[in-house]
Amino acid sequence: MKSDPSAPSNPLWGGRFAGGPAAVMQEINASIGFDKRMAAQDLAASKAHANMLAAQGIISSADAVAIIEGLDRIASEIETGAFRFKTALEDIHMNVEQRLADLIGEAAGRLHTGRSRNDQVATDFRLWVRDALDRTDRALAALQEALIDQAERNADTLMPGFTHLQSAQPVTFGHHLLAYVEMIGRDRGRVADCRRRLNECPLGAGALAGTSFPIDRAMTAQALGFDRPSANSLDSVSDRDFALEYLALASILAMHLSRLAEEFVLWTSEGFGFVTLTDAFTTGSSIMPQKRNPDAAELVRAKTGRVFGHLLGLLTVMKGLPLAYAKDMQEDKEPVFETDETLMLCLAATTGMVRDLTAVPERMEAALAGGFPTATDLADWLVRALGMPFRQAHHVTGRLVALAEAQACPLEALDLAAMQTIEPKITDDVFTVLTPEASAASRTSFGGTAPERVREAAAAARERFL
Ligand code: ARG
Repeated sequence: MKSDPSAPSNPLWGGRFAGGPAAVMQEINASIGFDKRMAAQDLAASKAHANMLAAQGIISSADAVAIIEGLDRIASEIETGAFRFKTALEDIHMNVEQRLADLIGEAAGRLHTGRSRNDQVATDFRLWVRDALDRTDRALAALQEALIDQAERNADTLMPGFTHLQSAQPVTFGHHLLAYVEMIGRDRGRVADCRRRLNECPLGAGALAGTSFPIDRAMTAQALGFDRPSANSLDSVSDRDFALEYLALASILAMHLSRLAEEFVLWTSEGFGFVTLTDAFTTGSSIMPQKRNPDAAELVRAKTGRVFGHLLGLLTVMKGLPLAYAKDMQEDKEPVFETDETLMLCLAATTGMVRDLTAVPERMEAALAGGFPTATDLADWLVRALGMPFRQAHHVTGRLVALAEAQACPLEALDLAAMQTIEPKITDDVFTVLTPEASAASRTSFGGTAPERVREAAAAARERFL
């Protein structure tokens, strides 16, 4: 494949080029198909740069005014859909600059003084990821609010808690939901950490070495809401840690959402029936008329794969890249954009399901009747009332469970005489600890499942997170 002598060379960098690129060169090189999503950030950064150039006397204020007006005009052209993005102009930066030249002529050519596309793209992308982090945080807070609302409604709703997905000890449904509030709270902490480290401005690093123009990097940093300019020009144009940190926190968050999604799938299944979802969050089957499938939950569970894939993808792009900028880094954007879309959709669907769900206490009670979830309470009673060492109490309780299993009844339905054949010192006081209600109510330790603790924890979570 040859260079195309009839195609014009790039107006922004083609001084030493006689012909245009081969079609496939243009195709592999162009990023405008996706980086047009950073248009708003690119315009904001260019405005800050132009204002700074004028303030430093590097360009005239008349040129700066023309540039700013031109950039505003471009913003409205993009908003109304009138702007024509051109693949031949490669990326958002050159599309904007070329259009600015069409609109204001020579002054446009002064905008790129003292900067490079390398610091420009690093700045735009940081601004974009920062917006994505803020969006994510708001969506996470909305999910926490939905969870807390349901937790308060279900502070007394008893269900079996599981380990190994085997009935373990009674918990309240509200307590279970508040566990996710904590998980999402840590996700929000990671969002805040990522934002804090991200918030340094690379603009002014130039191509890689800085610039000889007397620029004011603190001024552009401040205008764009950054905490400070980044310290090393080489690092400024080659760092993509902020994107990787975003993908890493997105992966942990997606993993959390997949766990909740899996619980929805289990809870709404015939075997559990702990929860129902309405028509709004379920689908039917084209052949089996009785079906009500939790497709949204399944898809939230599945979309985790994309997010993990994007993290691994970008880590692989960055691995082994020598300093400073390399075109490899243009591959950083699509995984981040796609992750943001996926997260926003999954968070909206999850919040929707949490708001939509209705607990079914009868089915939870039925599940509590099997599986002997109060066996630990029985063992603890033997320790407390009879002074038995816990290991021995564990063994005695095991025999009592076997007895209940043989009689196909819950522990609280065993009769005292039968229990005394195994441990003669047991008294009828034991029955005060054998019901799921008593078990849950007794777990009053800080962070425990007792309804009063759950109500306090929900109120505290509202204070901490909303
Ligand atoms: N489109 C490029 C990217 O996304 C912009 C930076 C190009 N820099 C360069 N030296 N070719 O990375």
